[in-house]
Amino acid sequence: MKDGNGFVWGAATAAFQIEGATTADGRGESIWDRFASVEGNIAHGDTGDPACEHYYLWQEDLDLMRSLGLEGYRFSIAWPRIQPSGRGPANQRGLDFYRALVEGMLERDIRPLATLYHWDLPQPLQDEGGWSSRDVVDRFVEYAGIVFDALDDLVPAWITHNEPWVTSFLGYGYGAKAPGIHDWPTAIRASHHSLLAHGAAVRAFRQAGHAGQIGITLDLTVAVPATASEADREAANRLDGHHNRWFLDPVFRASYPEDMVAFYERRFGDLDAIQPGDLETIAQPLDFLGVNFYRPNWATAIDDGGLDVGDDPPELERTSMDWPIAPEYLTDLLLRVRRDYGEIPLLITENGAAFDDRLDGADVVEDDRRVAYLKGHVAAMERARDQGVDVRGYYVWSLLDNFEWEYGYEKRFGIVFIDFPTQRRIPKRSALWYRDLIAATNGQR
Ligand code: FCB
Repeated sequence: MKDGNGFVWGAATAAFQIEGATTADGRGESIWDRFASVEGNIAHGDTGDPACEHYYLWQEDLDLMRSLGLEGYRFSIAWPRIQPSGRGPANQRGLDFYRALVEGMLERDIRPLATLYHWDLPQPLQDEGGWSSRDVVDRFVEYAGIVFDALDDLVPAWITHNEPWVTSFLGYGYGAKAPGIHDWPTAIRASHHSLLAHGAAVRAFRQAGHAGQIGITLDLTVAVPATASEADREAANRLDGHHNRWFLDPVFRASYPEDMVAFYERRFGDLDAIQPGDLETIAQPLDFLGVNFYRPNWATAIDDGGLDVGDDPPELERTSMDWPIAPEYLTDLLLRVRRDYGEIPLLITENGAAFDDRLDGADVVEDDRRVAYLKGHVAAMERARDQGVDVRGYYVWSLLDNFEWEYGYEKRFGIVFIDFPTQRRIPKRSALWYRDLIAATNGQR
């Protein structure tokens, strides 16, 4: 197993997307259970059950990872399994599940990377305002403390939040994801409280003397002006501010970007959630930054100076999410993060693509386009590493086809195909390609 300094090739998943068993062993309701129960929110009326039944099939899944030679596994812990009502003492059966899972990884020489929050907030906390209420910060610190105490002897690295941009802006602003709220002042508050909860949990982690590493995962994009016009360049800068700098600046510079503060205040009123001392809490020193990258975004100035992005260049090939494929931007992104935020070690904590994979009776599902996507992005990452960017790991999204949020089971991101009715796991060509890449690069760096 890698010693923590070597490069780690891994795969990523998230609890709600794979576990199923949403009422087993005392698990409480999450905002995604509630959101999925409302007709029209999720494609085909899909829910978090059965997902990949990973809650029951986890040993088989770990064996699968082992057979592919994966060196690391990024998974997330379901808060509602640990604290079914979002507060108070731990549900021991929830902790036992994750302890067994992590022990199973270690037995197979797979390095655990645990995400504390991948969007499954306990519903009772949402009933009190969720991420838009400041009280959630104390709740998150309490939850994180329980998990650190229970697992820190086994887990070498932690991620506080997965993609707070999505948590707050897609959840509370655009309303596309749980809890499905459409209110931008609420969304801005939620973003601040997500960041504050991150910083407060990191501080508590250090104060308690835990030995592991800790960081945050941000979904970063490259904002590309659709044309060379001044207006489109401004739009790209605003998109960059909204998507990237609003999260990177507080975490690494203890400040919100001034242009975005002015922009949000103009549109949404005072940012009164931001209180004295908050930014110092948010900007705790981190051991690494997790970067999720799928695609760049093209920005076009629109009349109301809003946050919407422009059209993607029509000539680019697309995934089944309709996302354009442009791997070279990953190199630019990694160089930019170092240029603007310094030498922080980076992990690519998600990268991958959905395609319309089909099971045709063969032993392997052919997914050439995913292989090409992954090859292109790995090469783009390597170009940044060749220029000295300190990338320590790459985690493909995702190990398994799974519950892709509002798209349900329709969008397949796995390198392993799931036949949901039978729960059979069938490797795709990309899994075998990845296995060979890991075997070939092992020990070279
Ligand atoms: C990311 C999420 C992950 C998955 C991929 C496709 O934004 O973190 O759960 O949905 O996108």
